[in-house]
Amino acid sequence: MKYKNRNHKIYFKPISDFLNVNIGEMPFPLETEVRGKKLLYDKVFKEGYDIILSWNDVLEFLKTVPSNIATLVVTSPPYNIGKPYEETLEFRNYIKWQEEVIKECVRILKPNGSICWEIGNYVKDGEVFPLDIYFYTVFKKLGLKLRNRIIWHFGHGLHAKKRFSGRYEVIQKVMTTYLISTL
Ligand SMILES: C[S@@+](CC[C@H](N)C(=O)[O-])C[C@H]1O[C@@H](n2cnc3c(N)ncnc32)[C@H](O)[C@@H]1O
Repeated sequence: MKYKNRNHKIYFKPISDFLNVNIGEMPFPLETEVRGKKLLYDKVFKEGYDIILSWNDVLEFLKTVPSNIATLVVTSPPYNIGKPYEETLEFRNYIKWQEEVIKECVRILKPNGSICWEIGNYVKDGEVFPLDIYFYTVFKKLGLKLRNRIIWHFGHGLHAKKRFSGRYEVIQKVMTTYLISTL
C-alpha cells in the first residue's frame, strides 16, 4: 500500500510493508533482505547488516553501537511537550537527558561526521523555549561545530489563540571536526 502526504506530495511506505509483517507482531530478532540489502530488526546493534531497525530506548540502543562508525546521525527527538510517546520531564532534566543522547551520538561518529538535529519549541505556561538555542550550547560544550542552521517553515500545525502560531522548526547540522577545504 502507498501513502501520500497531500501537502508535500511525498510518497512513503511503512517499514512493515517492506517486511510483509505488522510491526507490532515482529519478533526480535528478525533478519531479512530488502532490495538486496541485509536488514536486521533487533533491540541491539550487530555488525554485518546494511540496515538495522531497532525498537528500543534510544540510550539503550546507542550504548550497543561501536565508537567511530557513523558518518551521519539524523534525528527528530522528542520535544518534551507532552506527546503520547514521551514522558514530560522537568525542563533541565530533559536537556540533561538529551545531552547524554548527544554524547553517545558523538561517540559513535567518525571524525568529520555530522549530526542533523531537528527540533521545535518547548512551551510551558505560555512561555516559548526555542529548543535549538538550548541545544546549541550543548553542542558547543561537546566540541561540535555548527555548519548549517536550517529553518523548516510550514503552513500547517496547531493554532495559538494569544500569540502567533508556531510555523517553523529548526534543523541544526553540527560536525565533530571539519576540513578547512570544506568551508
Ligand atoms: C518528535 S517525534 C519524531 C517524529 C518523527 N520524526 C516523525 O516525523 O514522525 C519523537 C520520536 O521519538 C520517539 N522517542 C521518544 N522517546 C524515545 C526514547 N526514549 N527512545 C527512542 N525513541 C524515543 C517517539 O516515539 C517519536 O517517534
